[in-house]
Amino acid sequence: MENINNSTIFTRRSIRSFIKEKKVEQEKVDILLRAAQQAPSACNKQPWEFLVLDDEKIIDSIAPIDKHYVLAAKAPLVIIVLGNEKTSYRGENGLAWYPQDLSASIQNILLQAAELGLGSVWIGTYPDEKRING
Ligand SMILES: Cc1cc2nc3c(=O)[nH]c(=O)nc-3n(C[C@H](O)[C@H](O)[C@H](O)COP(=O)(O)O)c2cc1C
Repeated sequence: MENINNSTIFTRRSIRSFIKEKKVEQEKVDILLRAAQQAPSACNKQPWEFLVLDDEKIIDSIAPIDKHYVLAAKAPLVIIVLGNEKTSYRGENGLAWYPQDLSASIQNILLQAAELGLGSVWIGTYPDEKRING
């Protein structure tokens, strides 16, 4: 059996140090977004939207929103994964399932980034109200 310890799932780590001047090539951004949309979602609703920040000034502007975003603002690329409440699957109790769908999508981005040799880290927002409303 192949050594699974070398697979991307087992070698991926959160990376918190970036070279902000080193832009991520558009081709790689496109692959990350394709990977994000390849994730499973409840009833295949795919209730996700992606805000891609690659402009330094716009990335800088997220740092004051919350102390956890200071780290994100050090990266050359930020992908904000948004859930669409209107298109999300809802169970019989009416609750939206998009948090799980988005989590699967984000995990795909992190794994694909590692495959592309890019460092990445998930910066949490939901369900922290201060971060969501910021
Ligand atoms: C929902 C969620 C929110 C997270 N938020 C942050 C964060 O705000 N800042 C941060 O540095 N890391 C954050 N992380 C990354 C975790 O700290 C990291 O995945 C965990 O320590 C395990 O390390 P690893 O990713 O290297 O395996 C978050 C991870 C998840 C899944």
